[in-house]
Amino acid sequence: MEAEKILAEITDIETRARREIAAASPAELEAWRVAYLGRKGKVLALTSFLPSLAPADKPEIGRRVNQLKQTLTALYEEKTRHTEQSRRKENLSFPGKRPTPGYLHPLTRVTRELVEIFSALGFGVHTGPDVETDYYNFEALNMPEDHPAKDMWDTFYLDYGQKVLLRTHTSPVQIRFMKKNQPPFRIVAVGRCFRRDALDARHSPVFHQMEGLMVGQDIQFAHLKGVLVHCMHRLFGKDVKVKFNPAYFPFTEPSAEVSISCIICGGKGCATCGQAGWLEILGAGMVHPQVFRNVGYDADGITGFAFGMGIERIAMLKYGIHDIRYFLQNDIRFIEQLGNG
Ligand code: DAH
Repeated sequence: MEAEKILAEITDIETRARREIAAASPAELEAWRVAYLGRKGKVLALTSFLPSLAPADKPEIGRRVNQLKQTLTALYEEKTRHTEQSRRKENLSFPGKRPTPGYLHPLTRVTRELVEIFSALGFGVHTGPDVETDYYNFEALNMPEDHPAKDMWDTFYLDYGQKVLLRTHTSPVQIRFMKKNQPPFRIVAVGRCFRRDALDARHSPVFHQMEGLMVGQDIQFAHLKGVLVHCMHRLFGKDVKVKFNPAYFPFTEPSAEVSISCIICGGKGCATCGQAGWLEILGAGMVHPQVFRNVGYDADGITGFAFGMGIERIAMLKYGIHDIRYFLQNDIRFIEQLGNG
């Protein structure tokens, strides 16, 4: 074949190929590719004429055939991409994959429940720093330097002067709040606490507490009792009994250790309550007048109650968790077990 005829053929093939691919349905696309770009397709067929051409024409014709091949390949790829995109768009109407929901950590759940109970009673929610000074953690809470009661808390100190430490309880938030606010008020504070305890099934060097503090004219022990009984009933059900035993804390007078009837055995005695029928659940008392003096309150006529409870302890009882270490391990199976209800 002569060069001119081949050139005309090339133009003709390109025109037809363009027209056909524009009209082709996705199902027809493969047939188009085979017809033009396949091993026995029209483009390769053109190359079979090359040997018979005049040597002077060969480079030009060769170049044009290559060009045609590239143009058609580009057309094919472009069209395939479009088809793929529209297929994906159609798929949007397919039933979707349900994403796996996240679950709340049991400590988050208990914290939220407690905050809800106390918010409903008008308690504000506050926080304080994890790193405290000796002043807020001990001294202002009526434990001056070398006070023996400091031994109640095995403390992580952050410097050799023993002035900066990881708070051993949430009670320092009481001091921070009272230094900035005047009574009457009622607040709770939740947060991490740290103690130099060896990690075992019941002890963890890091754990959480919720602190409560209500101060005003003539706040009495009966108010403390009412609030805590209400809280325990909300947490564990109305059948649970609440007991107050005398105790000692330097920052309250009188002080109490509060127990609930064992929620596992109902008070008969079992392994969880150590056959006692009761579970110690929190510390509480009437704010010591010295604490009020330390924050600059005129102690006359102003009284208040305070309490502190361990969040892990409550979560363990509520959900039947036997080992405190689960809270720290972040095993998704542990967290999922409680569901989201
Ligand atoms: N801070 C105490 C502890 O960690 C708990 C506590 C007891 C807090 C009595 C109080 C309280 O506010 O009045 O063991």
